[in-house]
Order: sequence, then structure tokens, then C-alpha cells
Amino acid sequence: MNIASRMHEISPFHVMEILARARALERAGRDVIHMEIGEPDFPTPPRVVEAATRFIRSGEVKYTPAAGLPELREAIAGYYAQRYGVSVAPERIFVTPGASGGFLLAMGLLVEAGAKIALADPGYPCYANFVRLFGGEPCLVPVGADSGFNLDAGLLRRYWDERTAGIVIASPANPTGSMMPPGVLSELLDYAHGRAGFVISDEIYHGLEYGERSSTALEFFPDAFVINSFSKYFGMTGWRLGWVVVPEEFMGDAEKLAQNIFISAPSHSQAAALAAFSEENLRELERRRLVFRERRDFMWGRLRAIGFVVEASPEGAFYIYADCARFAPDSYQFALDLLMETGVAVTPGLDFGANCPERFLRFCYTAPVPRLSEGMDRIEGFSRGRQG
Ligand SMILES: Cc1ncc(COP(=O)(O)O)c(C=O)c1O
Repeated sequence: MNIASRMHEISPFHVMEILARARALERAGRDVIHMEIGEPDFPTPPRVVEAATRFIRSGEVKYTPAAGLPELREAIAGYYAQRYGVSVAPERIFVTPGASGGFLLAMGLLVEAGAKIALADPGYPCYANFVRLFGGEPCLVPVGADSGFNLDAGLLRRYWDERTAGIVIASPANPTGSMMPPGVLSELLDYAHGRAGFVISDEIYHGLEYGERSSTALEFFPDAFVINSFSKYFGMTGWRLGWVVVPEEFMGDAEKLAQNIFISAPSHSQAAALAAFSEENLRELERRRLVFRERRDFMWGRLRAIGFVVEASPEGAFYIYADCARFAPDSYQFALDLLMETGVAVTPGLDFGANCPERFLRFCYTAPVPRLSEGMDRIEGFSRGRQG
């Protein structure tokens, strides 16, 4: 029995090795500070839990329509109107098992075998893996301080060729927390549109911004495929719920594919998510955003004071992507040693592409400030011993 050859091209999450070792240390009684996990540490908001509990008690935990509960699609459309002032027909919204399910749907609709898809490097590793799964070829575009760690029209111009079919973008981005100014986003979208390329905009970290608010790609390019999720801003990672906005002419095929690949997203999660848009819940999420902002300010300051170089301005999400070359030639080894010696877990750059990953570490501020502070003290002691 042979495994499909495409599987050789799919990369694992290296952070899982760090996480496994961190869990082993914890089992052995060590105190581990987790800065490697990309999910909010807050529990699911109480309104959402109550709505889910009521729904589960009703016993109606069954399939929903493939595109999602009509009332949830309407609530999401209402959210676009209220948050961005953009009108999106609910029929264009497909509720999916997480943004991950949204990628499966969007890439299934768009990626031809052999087509090149432009992606920022560093970037979220699954974009490239999804492209490969559908036989496409990720075109990793190195991004750095000169473009604010974002793709922009100038970079696309350099990397676009006759095989390029589209782009995947994210703002705020993982692993950098960087954001695209609206002018850069609109120029980039114009460029792709001008070449008849598709645009998939991953807006999963929208809502977690600490300066300017994000613009949705739909403000500039109504035919963008926009992916979002209840995982991060809404604090519902384990509920596995997200959505994709598709252009009108793709609705029929999106329905067909969704039926085949998931039948429907989990119904109890959809019922729960209806409560996510209530005013009370949005107020709770705003309180959480302010806590993240305070943590971001704290971490950003401490990391730079210790001697890490942070060129990617962490304007959103809950990540800081820091250059640790001053302390070690290989960030993966640095992360392993840091964990084993001090019990602080961070993610090595290796997970995010091929653009000098050995220089970088991703720090998640998904723990309370006193824990982050303790972690920073340990990192400071460890790094001081390594300074070259
Ligand atoms: C940039 C980005 N997009 C998508 C996802 C997948 O999220 P979901 O839990 O909605 O599947 C993640 C998860 O970490 C992410 O960081």
C-alpha cells in the first residue's frame, strides 16, 4: 500500500514537537509557561456556552443545511454591515468547520493542478499545504521590514508569472501580527484583479487589532474570497466554526462542494455562535481585546529590552515575531534548549516558511501578564548566557 505522493510535500507543525516536550515536562512536575500556542487562553464566553447548552438539551443536534443555519448566515451578514459598512448577501456566506474548513472549500473551488499561488513568507503554514493538497504550487514571496512583513503590489509584480492564479493574504498576520494599511491592501487587490487572479483573504484575526481597525478585502474587491472564523476574536477554537464569503457566481459550486466535504458544520456550534454577535458578548470581546493589547505592549517592550529585534510591528493577532540571531544561530535549537532549561515554550520560525526561519521565534501572548512576566524573566536569564 503506497501513501499518496502528495503527502511527502505536506509539512508537519514543528511546534507540536515543542508542545509534546512541554507536556512531558509538565507531567514530570515542571512549571511550563506556554507562549507557543496560537489560541486565546480565555474560556468560551458565557453567553455562547449558554446558547450551546440550551441547543444541545433540545436534542436537535443534527445536520444543518450545507451552507449553514440561515439565521447564522444572516447574523454574519449583519456583522459585515455593522463592522465594515459592507453589504454581503447571506447566500454568499458559507459556514464551515473553522477557517480550516473554509480553506478546504475555497481552495477546492479555485486551485488548479500546477497553478502557482503567491503567499507571504513568513506566513501561516497551512496555506502552502492546502495549495499542495490540491496539486497547486505555493509561490513563497519573502517579505521583510521593507514591506512591513506584508505582500504588496510591488512584490507581486516581481513574482507574478503566467502560471500564477491567485494570492492568499492575511492581515493581521500569523506569525508576525503585522497589518496591511488599507492603501497597500487595495493596491494589492487591484493588481491581482487586473491579472484575473483570485484573492483569498484570511481575516481570522480581525477584531484583534490594537491600533487601526482592519479593512475587509470586500471593501475594495467584492469578488474576494473572504475567510473568517469564530476561533480567535470570538474565542471559540474548539467549536470548529468559521465561514467563507464567496462571489455570487461561485455559490452553486460552493454548496455542492460543502455538501460533499463536510455535509454541514457542527450544528451545536452554529447555534452557539448565534449568541456571539449579541451586544453583551461583543462587549466581553472588547474587554478581552484590551487585555491582549496590554499584554502586547508588555511583551513587545520586554523582548526589545532583552535584545530581541522586532522588525514586524505587532499590530494585531496575539503574536510577536522576533529575531533571535543575536543569541543563537538556529532558532529551533534555541526554542528546544529554552524549553528544557527554563520551561518556557515558544515557536521556532521553521513553522512559517523558508525565509530565514532560523533567525526567528514566534511569541504568543496568550497568557496573563504575570505569567508572561515570569516567562520573560526566564528568557532574559537564558539569553544573557548566550549573547555573542
Ligand atoms: C492565520 C490562520 N488562519 C487560519 C487558522 C485556522 O483556524 P481555525 O481554528 O478557524 O480553523 C489559524 C489557526 O491558527 C491561523 O493562525
